[in-house]
Amino acid sequence: MPSLPLLFTAALLSSWAQLLTDASSWWSLAMNPVQRPEMFIIGAQPVCSQLPGLSPGQRKLCQLYQEHMAYIGEGAKMGIRECQHQFRQRRWNCSTVDNTSVFGRVMQIGSRETAFTYAVSAAGVVNAISRACREGELSTCGCSRAVRPKDLPRDWLWGGCGDNVEYGYRFAKEFVDAREREKNFVKGSEEQGRALMNLQNNEAGRRAVYKMADVACKCHGVSGSCSLKTCWLQLAEFRKVGDRLKEKYDGAAAMRITRQGKLELVNSRFNQPTPEDLVYVDPSPDYCLRNETTGSMGTQGRLCNKTSEGMDGCELMCCGRGYDRFKSVQVERCHCKFHWCCFVRCKKCTEIVDQYICK
Ligand SMILES: *[C@@H]1O[C@H](CO)[C@@H](O)[C@H](O)[C@H]1NC(C)=O
Ligand SMILES: *[C@@H]1O[C@H](CO)[C@@H](O)[C@H](O)[C@H]1NC(C)=O
Ligand SMILES: *[C@@H]1O[C@H](CO)[C@@H](O)[C@H](O)[C@H]1NC(C)=O
Ligand SMILES: *[C@@H]1O[C@H](CO)[C@@H](O)[C@H](O)[C@H]1NC(C)=O
Repeated sequence: MPSLPLLFTAALLSSWAQLLTDASSWWSLAMNPVQRPEMFIIGAQPVCSQLPGLSPGQRKLCQLYQEHMAYIGEGAKMGIRECQHQFRQRRWNCSTVDNTSVFGRVMQIGSRETAFTYAVSAAGVVNAISRACREGELSTCGCSRAVRPKDLPRDWLWGGCGDNVEYGYRFAKEFVDAREREKNFVKGSEEQGRALMNLQNNEAGRRAVYKMADVACKCHGVSGSCSLKTCWLQLAEFRKVGDRLKEKYDGAAAMRITRQGKLELVNSRFNQPTPEDLVYVDPSPDYCLRNETTGSMGTQGRLCNKTSEGMDGCELMCCGRGYDRFKSVQVERCHCKFHWCCFVRCKKCTEIVDQYICK
């Protein structure tokens, strides 16, 4: 029998290994082009074991639903792109740093920004899977089976092939939450608080897609008379989902873990967050300076707006360090003329504009 100290060391080592692998995430599916579904051979396990960033439970789901993986990757990519759009004018701009951890160490802080990132990537997965179902790309799902909305005019047909958000939601829940669900945390520990935070934000992201899906219709009938309409359930534009989640980010609730293992509001005068709200457990760093420990990239070299008083203004963006001016040449289309028929011809005008970057 191994001696006790040996066992203890082994346990320590394995928890260390766990910590290291935790730095990576299924988000890395966005970086490694997953082969097209038709490239998967059913039961070919090596593919799943080669994908980086999956937790044991996610690896199992990968083996069962290999054809879904490309869409999970697509969803993650969509989430990252939306995050970068929403945060393009802020100190933390959602930039990705490498292939395995994707966003780097900043995600180790349970901040508002981390909350948004989890939500928007979970939303991306619901979106991508729901659409893949509708397009017939997956063998386990098809068109939406949502029931006909009660307020749909009686002579409109319900039955076009809709985005399958019910399936997308369920699958994303299973897959995205797996990492947090498969572990046993010490009740009331910081790790448990963080896991609960992730789960809440994943759910908020999924629900945003689910709730914003709406009825879309197409006209039929003689010469566009629209006497007949066929309607179906359709995903909202992902930009709108991003906007909604950005609002949730602005109103995110600060939480802490209780000894009983529940998240509670830090300030009990605020409203209890609903499952559609974002929550965070750590204050945000200021993201001003490059810091290898926290993973902050800093704002040195970032473009800023000299006249804006918002986050994109030089004062806030550069954290008071000052900024440099440089001239840049911008080329624009100008003096456009309409030619009969039917094209527009423009000249190219160059303009020299002042731009500012943070010191
Ligand atoms: C990330 O992946 C891309 C393409 O898969 C590769 O070209 C690049 O070198 C990788 N970067 C790192 C830091 O591993
Ligand atoms: C990086 O951040 C950590 C944690 O906030 C802080 O303790 C450390 O001093 C910072 N390092 C640098 C080089 O600023
Ligand atoms: C985001 O910020 C980093 C450094 O702060 C910079 O290198 C990168 O170009 C920025 N990305 C965008 C899209 O502005
Ligand atoms: C800079 O900010 C001002 C005020 O918010 C805005 O009107 C202007 O369009 C911005 N300039 C650029 C280049 O974004």
